[in-house]
Amino acid sequence: MPEASGWLLLRGSVPAWLLLPSLVLMAVCSPHAGTVAAGTTCAPRCYCSESEGKTVRCSHLHLTHVPAGIPNDTHRLYLDYNQLVSVPTDAFLSLPLLRELDLSHNDLSILEPGAFRGLGPSLKFLDLSSNSLATLNPDAFEGVTARSNLTGNPWHCDCTLQSVLPRLDLEPVSLTGIVCHSAEPADTGAEGQALLLTKDLDLCVVMKKTTDVAMLVTMFGWFSMVISYLVYYVRANQEDARRHLEYLKSLPGLPGKSEESSTISTVV
Ligand SMILES: *[C@@H]1O[C@H](CO)[C@@H](O)[C@H](O)[C@H]1NC(C)=O
Ligand SMILES: *[C@@H]1O[C@H](CO)[C@@H](O)[C@H](O)[C@H]1NC(C)=O
Repeated sequence: MPEASGWLLLRGSVPAWLLLPSLVLMAVCSPHAGTVAAGTTCAPRCYCSESEGKTVRCSHLHLTHVPAGIPNDTHRLYLDYNQLVSVPTDAFLSLPLLRELDLSHNDLSILEPGAFRGLGPSLKFLDLSSNSLATLNPDAFEGVTARSNLTGNPWHCDCTLQSVLPRLDLEPVSLTGIVCHSAEPADTGAEGQALLLTKDLDLCVVMKKTTDVAMLVTMFGWFSMVISYLVYYVRANQEDARRHLEYLKSLPGLPGKSEESSTISTVV
């Protein structure tokens, strides 16, 4: 019987007995080994290389979302030339060592609040150039101190954008590269101009001016209403007073009548 002899053979040889527990051990440990490996391997379809820290290249992959499984020890992440439309909250939360993030040449129009949360001071360079950004949510840049490239976007220049930009560390190229695709208010002449070069233009003051004018018009409206009411009130009372005066005059022999009538006429 070959089976029995095989069993006997296994029983008889010491290495076979050692093999069994080690197989069990491997089976138990493999999921753990998998997670350890996930920390050191690459995100699917991306290309990873090691030189002065890990570099992950996910360029030109038609990605519509930030891929999962980017190793947490990544130093440089290239997501350029994809089809990302937004950066969701906490998109890069598990990358504490990231120094460079390239999101250029995508279709980004929305950076959600906390989009770059967790990157913190380790991030030195953030490329958001050549996207579809029209405005910036200040809450998206929470904690970001990286130097940013914001050129090549269809910026809508208004008070919001003009207030956010000074809070960011901008790449020098931004000086000429942040061009207003549209502007608000539209009559400021900012359209087609590099926003950071229009030194005297304060889009917030312009906005304040328009609200001031609105305020003035409203106040003038109220004022004229009050005045016309006063005029009406005085006229109505004048008539009342006159009637009252005539009534007093018609009363025979009232003492101090002339005095009273003179005070009434001065009041009127
Ligand atoms: C990456 O993840 C592994 C496993 O979860 C952890 O041990 C390691 O400390 C992490 N590395 C960094 C840089 O956070
Ligand atoms: C900023 O982005 C523009 C457009 O993508 C690019 O030409 C330029 O080289 C970038 N500048 C830096 C300093 O990365």
